[in-house]
Amino acid sequence: MIKLLTIIGARPQFIKAAAISRAINNEFTSQINEVIVHTGQHYDEKMSSVFFEELKIPKEKYNLAIGSGSHAEQTAKMLVEIEKVVELEKPDALLLYGDTNSTLAACLVAIKLHLHTIHVEAGVRSYNKEFPEEVNRIICDNMSSLLFVPSDAGMDSLKKEGFNMDLIKNTPVSASHPKVFRCGDIMYDNTLFFVEKNKGTDLSVFKKYIIPSSDYILTTMHRPSNVDQEETLENILKALNEIALVHDKTIVLPLHPRTKKNIEDNSRLKELISSEKIIIIPPVSFLEMIELEGNSDLVVTDSGGVQKEAYFMKKPCLIMLSETPWTELLESNNALLVDNDYAKIVNGAAHFLNMTTDLIFPSLYGDGKASEFICQEIVNNIK
Ligand code: UD1
Ligand code: UDP
Repeated sequence: MIKLLTIIGARPQFIKAAAISRAINNEFTSQINEVIVHTGQHYDEKMSSVFFEELKIPKEKYNLAIGSGSHAEQTAKMLVEIEKVVELEKPDALLLYGDTNSTLAACLVAIKLHLHTIHVEAGVRSYNKEFPEEVNRIICDNMSSLLFVPSDAGMDSLKKEGFNMDLIKNTPVSASHPKVFRCGDIMYDNTLFFVEKNKGTDLSVFKKYIIPSSDYILTTMHRPSNVDQEETLENILKALNEIALVHDKTIVLPLHPRTKKNIEDNSRLKELISSEKIIIIPPVSFLEMIELEGNSDLVVTDSGGVQKEAYFMKKPCLIMLSETPWTELLESNNALLVDNDYAKIVNGAAHFLNMTTDLIFPSLYGDGKASEFICQEIVNNIK
């Protein structure tokens, strides 16, 4: 039996972990024993526990209650507390997702204790180290024994960085001799699974928050580079107001707590969201998010996960970043990079909303079975 310590802490990680926990529960209970550790990086009910309940993620055995703080403060506290749990549990490997500070702290603990790290969402690169996520991903990939890569672009990046992509059978894996797998995207597994599960059920996020169920644009934003400077956030909110006016659409904006805090503290920004065309709602659950994505006319986001989910749900997307690691979205012509630039956001919206031809969404992210593939390779390679 392989003992896996899954370390998660932020909203997107709970959602990703749901896919693997589901696969373990369905097919690998006799081979994998999963123990979940929640770092407490996200802690509001709507940023954390709602996902455990709704997505049936097994309850965490440990909650480290680290909370918010500067990068150094948050990561340092995590290092200390994760190490204690690892010493106590003595797992065979740590299972980590994506690129948050929880991922970074956990992979550093693992490598110093000579434990395997399994990195799901490996190889993802924006090539901009001003984003903390890029730094976290590079470090985690380089500390990992097993790397699970969701896209061709990710495979190319790891190859360029010198990873050996040839899988040598029967060679024990380690961080010095890692194995890299192209495996599809576990977020796609989740979207397929929960869309199917929800068919015929009327969740109606629309009734709950009294929002129109059509003719709206779904927006999310939380990147420090977009929401921490008044002028930048003002540009984005002005662009959203303009789009709502010109195209007669509602903007539906489930607000991340970082962004909420920045708007609440600022009367000019509060004024910009007071238009009746902009509807601010609290962070929604994953099933509500799928419903919002699926009925929207356009998605405008700086979220790594939401830009891909727009594609899964066959919706065009404006990516409010200067670059995206998900370059295949841009190549498919269903997404545009608009950064936080007023004119690019307004013109990008016009590009998609005035389009008369149908967009085509070829399959890019696997077959919805990435989680089972990952579990099988863990069984094949760990121990
Ligand atoms: C973090 C991740 C980011 C990910 C995002 C997903 C890092 C470096 N960043 O960014 O990669 O895309 O999560 O949402 O790991 N807050 C609350 N309640 C909460 C959580 C946060 O009020 O439950 C507020 C606090 O004021 C906190 C701020 O949001 O200081 C930022 O939280 P933090 O986890 O540091 O970063 P995120 O911006 O959420
Ligand atoms: N999400 C959600 N409710 C929200 C906003 C996002 O359930 O109000 C989900 C979204 O569907 C996706 C994930 O959270 O699966 C993305 O997380 P986030 O945008 O916080 O982080 P990122 O992906 O940018 O790291």
